[in-house]
Amino acid sequence: MSLPFLRSAVVGLTAYTPHLEPADDPSSASLDILDTNECPYDLPEALKEKLAWQLHHGIAANRYPDGGHGALKSAIAQYVTESVTESAEGATFDADHISVGNGSDELIRSLLIVTCVGGEGSVLVANPTFSMYGILARTLGVPVVTVGRSEETFEVDLAAAQQAIAQPQAAPVRVVFMVHPNSPTANALTAAEVLWLKSLPPEILVVVDEAYFEFSQQTTVAEVLTRPNWVVMRTFSKAFRLAAYRVGYTVANLELTQALEKVRLPYNLPSLTQAAAQLALAHRAELLAVVPEIQQQRRELAGAIAQHTPLHLWPSDANFLYGRPLVPSGQPLNTELERWFNGLRRQGTLVRHTGGGLRITIGTPAENQRTLTHMQQL
Ligand SMILES: Cc1ncc(COP(=O)(O)O)c(C=O)c1O
Repeated sequence: MSLPFLRSAVVGLTAYTPHLEPADDPSSASLDILDTNECPYDLPEALKEKLAWQLHHGIAANRYPDGGHGALKSAIAQYVTESVTESAEGATFDADHISVGNGSDELIRSLLIVTCVGGEGSVLVANPTFSMYGILARTLGVPVVTVGRSEETFEVDLAAAQQAIAQPQAAPVRVVFMVHPNSPTANALTAAEVLWLKSLPPEILVVVDEAYFEFSQQTTVAEVLTRPNWVVMRTFSKAFRLAAYRVGYTVANLELTQALEKVRLPYNLPSLTQAAAQLALAHRAELLAVVPEIQQQRRELAGAIAQHTPLHLWPSDANFLYGRPLVPSGQPLNTELERWFNGLRRQGTLVRHTGGGLRITIGTPAENQRTLTHMQQL
């Protein structure tokens, strides 16, 4: 049955399907979940108790949440100020630079609404990259222009990107989405890529998605203070261990931040979610203390995979690895990728088959050991 009132662009879309939940697939209950790049550690018990106290005594269930997110924005601004690298020392941010969303997914949608919707522009992405930019753009009728990356380094094909921008088209490119480091390929932006982004004219918004900043320790956030067309997006879903609570944020100049505030839903962040993010920031030293361990695990797992399996890995600046199995010439890579994905899953390791490769989240030391063993058993 087709519903005649639906927009044709929506009819043609497929809904985003996350990995199967235990309720749908009982066998997944015992899987190592290494396909969504979360931190492998839950919140410490003491912090969960503090949140439970908030739920019971601090939050009135009959009252709407703080719709302005004032306290949370100030705490985020303080954290962002601390996060600027030495080259930009002295850069300071305040609550007016911050907008928060129900996950950074919501902020991607808001960015599209304030820039491209209504036939006013298209977006440019370099594949393989995070799929939600394209998915959300299509739901809003925003055209997506794609360019490729180097097969050796996954650097963006800057010549193709420049050409795509210069090309006269009905909806000119208004936004360039870049992930730093990229997902799924795990490479951070190079100096040449950053230089190209800085060369873009003021009518093109540069979105640098730093979802994995805590693992890469590389940031472009100071650019926001001098470039009106630069926005950095981050999330609490990865290093801060709050994927279940849904909090992302943007750092941008005052005018762009105000535009994002205009289009978001009034109470987009539940009270408990705001409390969780504030608690995580207040205890950031403790929560982020596991980052060096995860970086070390990444190095060790990458070394072991390279030594013991025929999976070719690329260098990673994030909390995941990206690789492709070596295939005899003439054999299709995709068939081999499916074999790896299904074989690992059957043994209990869930990874992501995406962007023409396998993306493997770094888990606990025990999970990483099992990842290696399961690969060897393939
Ligand atoms: C690059 C990138 N951006 C954004 C997100 C989404 O983050 P959130 O959970 O805040 O919506 C992800 C999640 O995997 C991601 O990989």
